[in-house]
Parts: sequence; C-alpha cells; structure tokens
Amino acid sequence: MVEDAAPYGPVDDGAMLVRDGRIAWVGARADLPAHDAVAVERLDGRWVTPGLIDCHTHLVFGGNRSHEFERRLTGVPYEQIAREGGGIVSTMTATRAASEDALVASALDRLRGLTATGVTTVEIKSGYGLDAANELKMLRAARRVGREGGVRVSTSFLGLHALPPEHRADRAAYLDLMIDQILPAAHAEGLVDAVDAYCEPIAFTAVEVDRLFAKARSLGLPVKLHADQLSNGGGGALAAAHGALSADHVEHVDEAGVVAMAAAGTVAVLLPGAYLMLRETVPPPIDLFRRHGVRMAVATDCNPGTSPVVSVTSALNLACVQFRLTPEEALTGATRHAAAALGLSHEIGALEPGKTADLAVWNVERPAELCYWLGRPLLHRRWLGGRT
Ligand code: NIG
Ligand code: FE
Repeated sequence: MVEDAAPYGPVDDGAMLVRDGRIAWVGARADLPAHDAVAVERLDGRWVTPGLIDCHTHLVFGGNRSHEFERRLTGVPYEQIAREGGGIVSTMTATRAASEDALVASALDRLRGLTATGVTTVEIKSGYGLDAANELKMLRAARRVGREGGVRVSTSFLGLHALPPEHRADRAAYLDLMIDQILPAAHAEGLVDAVDAYCEPIAFTAVEVDRLFAKARSLGLPVKLHADQLSNGGGGALAAAHGALSADHVEHVDEAGVVAMAAAGTVAVLLPGAYLMLRETVPPPIDLFRRHGVRMAVATDCNPGTSPVVSVTSALNLACVQFRLTPEEALTGATRHAAAALGLSHEIGALEPGKTADLAVWNVERPAELCYWLGRPLLHRRWLGGRT
C-alpha cells in the first residue's frame, strides 16, 4: 500500500525494492526496474502498510491501577481519585520503587502487544518519576526499550505531569527543578526527543506550560501537549502558539484552538482508549479538524490510569467507532500523521522511496479490516529498517 494519494493509495500486485534499510523503489510489479536483489521475499498477495506508529504512550511505569479501575466503575471520578492523592501520584510511587531493569522488563512485556499489532515506532513519555533520579531512570528505561524491543523509540520528557506530594507546599520550586535542572540534564544525556506537559486544572496551568515550552525551545527541542482533555483550557491554542508537533486528547478544544492548530501545522492526536476508559461523552471535534485541515493521528495512550491499551489496531477500531473516523483516516493516523506528530515525517510513516523500510504485512483482504476486527491477530510479519 502506498499512502500518497488518498484514500489509501493502494498498489495492486505491487513490489518494493529495499536497499540499505530504506525503500529504494515501490510500485506495480509490472513496472519493477532492473535490479540486482540479493534476496527476494514473496508476500503472496498480502497487504503491506508502513509499520504502525504509536505516537503517544506512557509505556514505562511501575505497578498498575486496576484497584482504581474498580473504584471508577462504582462511579468515583478520575479527577477525585487524583485529588485524593491517587491517579498519577500512585503510579509515581510504584515507579520510584521499581528498578530500571524492572521498568524495562514490564515495558517490554507491554510492548509485545504493540509489536504484535504492527508497531515499529513507539513514543514513550516520562512523567511518573517526578524527581531527578526517577525521571532520568524512566527515560533511560525508554531508550533501552528501543534497543532491546525491536522498535524505534521516540522519548518525551513529561516532568509537568503531576505535582509530587513532597512539593505540594512549594509548586514554584518544582517548576524550577523540572524546567531549569532536570530537563537540561536529561537533554544533555541525549534522553529527550520532545517535551510534553499535562495542561489541565488537576495538573499544570497554561502559564506554567508556557515557561516549560520556552525552555524546551531554547534547547532546540520540539514540544507537544496533553491539551483540553477534561476541560477547555485553551490547550490547543497554547500548543499551536509554540509551534507544537501535536496537541493530544483535545476532546474539548474549541474552534479558535482548531484554527490555531491548523495554522501551526499542529497534529491532533486522538486517544480513543482514554476516552473509552474514562467514559467520556464529549468526543473531539472531528468535523472541525477536517474542515480546517488539521491532521489527525491515533494512538493508544498506553498508561496504567486512563488507557491500559496495548493494541494499536484496537485504538484504530475505537477511533472509528467512537469518533467516526473513516478507516482510511484512522490508518493514516497511525502512519503518516503519527510520523508528523513525532517530527519524523522525513523518515517513517509512508511507503515512499527514501523512507526507512519499516513495514507491516497483514493477513487481511481489505485494509479496512485493520480497523474492523477488535482483538484478532492480523499481523503476518514486521520489518524494521529492512530487517524482519
Ligand atoms: O494521557 N492525561 C494525563 N496523562 C495520561 C494519564 C496518566 C495517568 O492517569 O496515569 C493520559 O491520559
Ligand atoms: Fe497521555
């Protein structure tokens, strides 16, 4: 499948040449140029897509929050649990208690779910350490997941995820620590590909995020934002004002925010697993995104609190069913537009000459099946940089 022309841009009876880990040529088999291929892989008519990209996850964490899941099912709201010191802070406690090795092991276990659904690139955030040693530990673990898990990993520094209990009386000191010390230290160690924050009344304000993003840009790092998830806090517009790669969740973004995102080229990352798990009722404004030409990506948001989802094809299904994305839009959201959300459009996300040969081969008859089945194994094989 070539994604150039919408929808899908399929090539029937296609062929591809891969050289040095990159796509050298792709098109109809009848047009295959002369070549000296040393190995030929026959795929027997199967569909090939770009390797899927999960552009928003919190894959590295300690413990899980099934106990909070049980409470939420009885009607206790997510925000209330957070304000009582549960939520992100309870995962912080478990993450601090875990060794780097243990974090890597549990993340690799979850990663198996993602790779089994065709993922070749995964974004992983910090944000459950919330102090110097543990934010760095999480980011080092994320890098190791890339080295040991057979995927590309893109990391995001999410120090402004929640205020840890030891700073409850001194918010300003926490901001100074994260922005002026830990972010630069993590960056100096090569651990940060982008900077993220959680902008919400239960987390951080627009003014605080603004300061973090100014620092990120002074370090030359791209930014992204958990924006307008539970309320409209102007997060979409804030992200756009900083030229963010993406604004994520965005259930409550208003039209002014959408217009700003369109002008800035900020991708809307839709996270239907969190929407489902939190039993949200206001979906993101898909029609506004379409009308204003905002690119939409789809990701699992894999995290222990709001989205224990380890299947990217399930996220595609949920995006179609809950948000009424077309299967073409959903699949584009886990390939081309997910690459854009990571600032990696030049490398991955499409079957085009020059791009990395990250491929997923599927046992389906029609591409829409990738969004249609819920939980059925569909992957035949995966290639990462031309290697299976
Ligand atoms: O993307 N919104 C903030 N961060 C996560 C939730 C994290 C958690 O509850 O542990 C999210 O939904
Ligand atoms: Fe998230």
